[in-house]
Amino acid sequence: MTGTDAQNKIEDSNIKVAIFASGAGSNAEKIINYFSGYEKVKITLLVCNKPDAGVIKIAEAATIPVLLIEKEQFFRGDAYVEILKEFGINLIVLAGFLWKVPKQLIAAFPDKIINIHPALLPNYGGKGMYGHFVHEAVIANEEKESGITIHFVNENFDEGKHIFQASCPVLPTDTPETLAARIHQLEHAHFAPIIETVIKNLE
Ligand code: GAR
Repeated sequence: MTGTDAQNKIEDSNIKVAIFASGAGSNAEKIINYFSGYEKVKITLLVCNKPDAGVIKIAEAATIPVLLIEKEQFFRGDAYVEILKEFGINLIVLAGFLWKVPKQLIAAFPDKIINIHPALLPNYGGKGMYGHFVHEAVIANEEKESGITIHFVNENFDEGKHIFQASCPVLPTDTPETLAARIHQLEHAHFAPIIETVIKNLE
């Protein structure tokens, strides 16, 4: 596909994005703001598994419907595929969503689920490696560099095809909090534009 074809595609299509998030929601907020002026890309739904997550208030302020999900239906029911289809969702963005994505959901949205991870995968990924645990491990290992990875989601935690990486230094004086802040800056700068690129290349 040429650049012009890709541009036509985004203009011709109606992309409905579901953000899955369960934390403070700073990435979700950036994504919502980024696409707020777009006619053809709509952040249609927030999917969340924590009733007290900060991200819920962010979605509500932007009048985006919130779907609160529970474990049983997610892992042993239909993984909410029916509801997502009813909303017409054609892209899922994980922005601080910590549950593993079940096979059923991956099968229903092949190559249409993307995740952001706060480290340079394949390092510091996998089960239990999220948020501050990642930054603690990076600092404990005296890494000189960390970063972000945006990738497609497959059945294994943090192992899907990479879409984008960006790095930043880890300073000797860093705490998990200062490193997290630097990583968040990278995430906020890159996630929404990379989502836009993915959308332009959607089949
Ligand atoms: C982000 O740093 C994201 O990379 C991380 O959770 C944070 C959510 O922050 N995700 C993971 O660790 C997934 N393994 P936010 O709620 O402020 O967007």
